[in-house]
Amino acid sequence: MKRIGILTSGGDAPGMNAAIRAVTKTAISNGLEVFGIRYGFAGLVAGDFVALTAEDVDHKISQGGTFLYSARYPEFAQEEVQKKGAEQLRSHGIDAVIVIGGDGSYHGALALTRLGINSIGLPGTIDNDIPYTDYTIGFSSACRTAMDAIDKIRDTAASHHRVFIVNVMGRECGDIAMRVGVATGADAIVIPERPYDIKEIAETLKRHFADGKDNGIIVLAEGVMSADKFKDELLKYGDFDARANVLAHMQRGGSPTVTDRVNATKMGNYAVKLLLDGKGGLAVGIENSKLATHDILDLFDGKHQGDYALLDINKEMNK
Ligand code: F6P
Repeated sequence: MKRIGILTSGGDAPGMNAAIRAVTKTAISNGLEVFGIRYGFAGLVAGDFVALTAEDVDHKISQGGTFLYSARYPEFAQEEVQKKGAEQLRSHGIDAVIVIGGDGSYHGALALTRLGINSIGLPGTIDNDIPYTDYTIGFSSACRTAMDAIDKIRDTAASHHRVFIVNVMGRECGDIAMRVGVATGADAIVIPERPYDIKEIAETLKRHFADGKDNGIIVLAEGVMSADKFKDELLKYGDFDARANVLAHMQRGGSPTVTDRVNATKMGNYAVKLLLDGKGGLAVGIENSKLATHDILDLFDGKHQGDYALLDINKEMNK
């Protein structure tokens, strides 16, 4: 193996640049050449490749987004398109690829491996919804951004004795909502993986206001329903001065946290070592604070387990 490629796919996440940097610097230290593949799998098929030097990735560790750009490219599920991608890699002398992205990206990495291009997947998504890893790259930063925003929302909520329903990202996964809800002392956290009782939430808020609290915060995972709809439902059970707020894509931006930078660096470094050992078709993760690998195939059967104890803790504090 002489030359490897690296790409970012799906929604961008803070820490992707740190992972690209780690892969590039580790590969170069081990005598490999590195090519950045721009715009994810779409760029792979189009042959949008750019040689990367160690200097190219200097100072990238602190930058949000992905300087290789990203794309959602469902066309890569088609065998013919996959073959075109593999052909592009071969014609550029690229023997192996590291893919940073969410669950869709793993299908692409597995397809390339089956076509003879060893590929390793790194979990890059703010959602934290990937099986067999405690943390995905970007999750920590997204939580910090959402936490900072909700702290600010609470200031205005308190000034007007209002209830805010804050919709946070995560697709079908409630991890951002749970972590940020606990971190901001939310009155209620609502996620798609667990049942909730909107009447009970309304009663909690009423009791809090009656006890002298001057604001209410409900952290709502986007996979449940829209903040506007939740507000309408809530108002059936209480006469609150309520506002709906959607944090949306701001959660994907900004400089990555220490956790995301370090996790991305460890996983990027490890992915290159796996390729040097001739391995492919593997997903890298962090389990119980240690680097871990699983067959990508296992991920398709696995289900991410959130830290649902956070919900119980938060409920107990809001009795
Ligand atoms: O997967 C990351 C994510 O930000 C999800 O939390 C969100 O549901 C989705 O991407 C938004 O996708 P897009 O940026 O394509 O609107």
